Amino acid sequence: MYIYVPDKVAAKPAVIVALHPCGGNAQQWYGGTRLPSYADKNGFILIYAGTPNMNNCWDVQSTGSLTHGQGGDALGIVSMVNYTLNKYSGDASKVFVMGSSSGAMMTNVMAGSYPDVFEAGAAYSGTAHACFAGAPSATPMSPNQTCAQGLTHTPEQWGNFVRNSYPGYTGRRPRMMIAHGLADTLVRPQCAREALKQWSNVLGVTLTKTSSGVPSSAYSQEIYGDGTKLQGFFGTGVGHTAPVNEDLMLKFFGLIA
Ligand SMILES: *[C@@H]1O[C@H](CO)[C@@H](O)[C@H](O)[C@H]1NC(C)=O
Ligand SMILES: *[C@@H]1O[C@H](CO)[C@@H](O)[C@H](O)[C@H]1NC(C)=O
Repeated sequence: MYIYVPDKVAAKPAVIVALHPCGGNAQQWYGGTRLPSYADKNGFILIYAGTPNMNNCWDVQSTGSLTHGQGGDALGIVSMVNYTLNKYSGDASKVFVMGSSSGAMMTNVMAGSYPDVFEAGAAYSGTAHACFAGAPSATPMSPNQTCAQGLTHTPEQWGNFVRNSYPGYTGRRPRMMIAHGLADTLVRPQCAREALKQWSNVLGVTLTKTSSGVPSSAYSQEIYGDGTKLQGFFGTGVGHTAPVNEDLMLKFFGLIA
């Protein structure tokens, strides 16, 4: 665990967990987005978790990670959040998770297994919660690429994976932003379609509007419901990975105006 606490940290700061891609680490991902400068301006804290296992890919496939309170990398990350909230008097109602590629897969895992911890998440070029369930590992070198090549389920089946991760939970669910490049061959754009099906089912919102040219000419934006709970972004000609749009994400999180 690494942490970025800005000099002018807010009273009761929000906390964002930022998860690196495969082969990355906390230091690499600190430089991978402009989030630190936004933290300087807005006073939130960034947790840079790092995994040294499986070619530095997150454990998105173990029963531990896919079950609330059971273990795996997921519980490790939740422990980091706990530590941070306690040590810096953070706002437990403003905890977010974001990541790219394997970090995006883990973002969906965290939102599925720990709906009580995260207010919202943003996944760039990832896969749905439990997409890798049953696979022995989750790296680009793994023999089993079924998930990353676009494993499909029905919305209800995807939703059940999330609900079964925390049986009996009836509280609110994290709001989600899903972004993907349409020219991605490593983690197919279908994976983002599947994640949208999953959260659409879990959050109870359906596609209401598609706008091309949002937030920039290559992209189209999908709004589910009124857009506060779920949004999708697909980039034409965008490969692996879709770049992080900090402004758009922090607005969706409600951390900047
Ligand atoms: C987080 O902290 C609370 C108490 O503040 C504790 O009940 C809970 O078990 C902790 N969870 C983890 C994952 O450390
Ligand atoms: C491959 O992974 C998928 C999930 O991504 C799983 O359903 C399937 O059982 C796995 N197959 C093998 C042979 O491990």
